[in-house]
Amino acid sequence: MPDETISVIDNRTGRRYEIPIRDGAIGAADLQKITTDGPAAGLMSYDPAFLNTASCRSAITYIDGERGILRYRGYPIEELAQHSTFLDVAYLLIQGELPDATQRDEWVDKITHHTLLHENIKKLIDGFHHDAHPMGVLIGVVGALSTFYPDAKEIGKADSRRLQILRLIAKMPTIAAFAYRHAIGMPYAYPDNDLTYAGNFLNMMWKATELKYRPNAVLEHALDVLLILHADHEQNCSANVMRAVGSAHSDPFSATAAAAAALYGPLHGGANEHVLRMLREVGSVSRVPEYVKRVRSGEMKLMGFGHRVYKNFDPRAKIIKQVADQVLEVTGKSPLLDIATELERVALQDDYFIKHRLYPNVDFYSGIIYLAIGFPVEMFPVLFAIGRTPGWLAQWQEGLLDPEQKIARPRQIYTGPAERHLPGVRAVAGTSAG
Ligand code: SDX
Repeated sequence: MPDETISVIDNRTGRRYEIPIRDGAIGAADLQKITTDGPAAGLMSYDPAFLNTASCRSAITYIDGERGILRYRGYPIEELAQHSTFLDVAYLLIQGELPDATQRDEWVDKITHHTLLHENIKKLIDGFHHDAHPMGVLIGVVGALSTFYPDAKEIGKADSRRLQILRLIAKMPTIAAFAYRHAIGMPYAYPDNDLTYAGNFLNMMWKATELKYRPNAVLEHALDVLLILHADHEQNCSANVMRAVGSAHSDPFSATAAAAAALYGPLHGGANEHVLRMLREVGSVSRVPEYVKRVRSGEMKLMGFGHRVYKNFDPRAKIIKQVADQVLEVTGKSPLLDIATELERVALQDDYFIKHRLYPNVDFYSGIIYLAIGFPVEMFPVLFAIGRTPGWLAQWQEGLLDPEQKIARPRQIYTGPAERHLPGVRAVAGTSAG
C-alpha cells in the first residue's frame, strides 16, 4: 500500500483523483489517468533537465544539498577521504560494502594486472594530432576498447560485468597517461605493478629514463584522495548518460565513452579546466573585484561555482582545499590559489552569489592541486573521468539489475507544425497523412 496519497481535482472535468505517494514521490505514470478524452490524452509530467524528477531508485550515493552531505553507500565522504583508498571506495561503490582483507587483495591484484592496453591501442593514439585534447583521446579509446572485448556485450552475466568493470577501472589511468605522453612526444611509460593505483598513474605520466619511478608520497596520497572525492555523485549528467546508454543494453565500454563525453562539457567535469583558465585570466588578486563585476553583469559564469544540488557548500570543495594546502607545502605556493581564495572571499560576500546560492563546487580548487602536482590543464577533466569511472560503473550495473528499469525513452510536448503536405501531393486515406 502507498504511504499516503494526494487528491487532485481536474477543473476541466470536475473529476477527483487519488494519486499515491511513495518514497516522497508520485509516479508520473499515475498522471495518465487524469484525462479529458481517454488514456491517450492523459496528463504527462514536464521537467526539462530533470530539475525535480527522480529517474531511478539508487542505493549508491546520498546527497543532501541543503546540509552539504555526501555519502557513498552510507559512509560520509569526509571519513572515506581521510581513512580509505580509492580502490577500496571503488569496491564499496560497486559491491555495496567495503572489502575485507582477502577481497581487497584480490580486487587490487586483479586491477593491477589489467592495467596494460592492447598494443594496437598505441597505434590508435598515435593517429591523433599532437595537440588533440586528451579527453577526446580518452573518449575515442574507451569506445574503441569495446571492439577489443566483444565479450563485454554479455551484460546479463555477472562474471562478464565484473571483468569489464576491472578492465575499465584498471585501464583508465593507462589511457590517460598514454594520451599525455603522445601529446608531449615522450615514449609510453608502462604500468609498474609494484606501485599503488595513484602511484602507478604518476609513474606512467612522468617516468623518464630512470629505471624505477618513485612517486612523491604526499602527491600520491593527494591524488588518491582527489580520486575518492570524484568517485560518484548520484544522478549527475554523466551518470544519467551512463544509465541511459546502459538501458539500451550497450556494452559498458560504449556506455563509459558516452558518459565521459558528457563529463567533458564545461558545465560538468570540464569546469575544472575552465576554472584554471579563468584564474589565469583574472591574473591577480587586485583584479578579482573587476572580474566578479563582469560575472554579476551576466557576461560569464564564475566557473567552479554553483551546483544543481548543493546550495550552501560542496563538502568536496572543503576537503580539496585542505589537500591543496598539503600539496602546496611540497610543491611551493601558487599565486593561483591566492586568486581563487580571494575570488571565493569576494563572491561569498556578494549579494548576487548569495541570492543565487552559489558556492565553490568540486571543480573550484581541484585544478590548483592538479597544476601543482604537474598536470597540464587539459588533463584535468581526464583526471575527473578516472575518478568517476567506478561511480559510472556502479550506476550502470544498478540500473541494469533494477526490475523497475527498462530502455530509457522520455516523452515530449510536441510544438512543431500541424499536418501539412508536399506541394501537389494529395493526402492518401489510411496513411499517417490520410
Ligand atoms: C560538476 O550534478 C553534479 O553532481 C555535477 C558534479 C558531479 O560531481 O558530477 O558535482 C560535478 O559538474 C560540478 C559543476 C561544475 N560546473 C561549473 O562549475 C560551471 C559553472 N556552474 C554553472 O554552470 C551552474 O552552477 C551549474 C551547471 C553547476 C548548475 O546549473 P543549474 O543548477 O542548472 O543552475 P542554473 O544554470 O539554472 O543557474 C541558476 C542561476 C542562473 O541565474 P538566473 O538565470 O536564474 O538569473 O544561477 C546563475 C545562473 O546564471 N548561475 C551562475 C553560476 N551558476 C549558476 N552565475 C554565475 N556563475 C555561476 N557559476
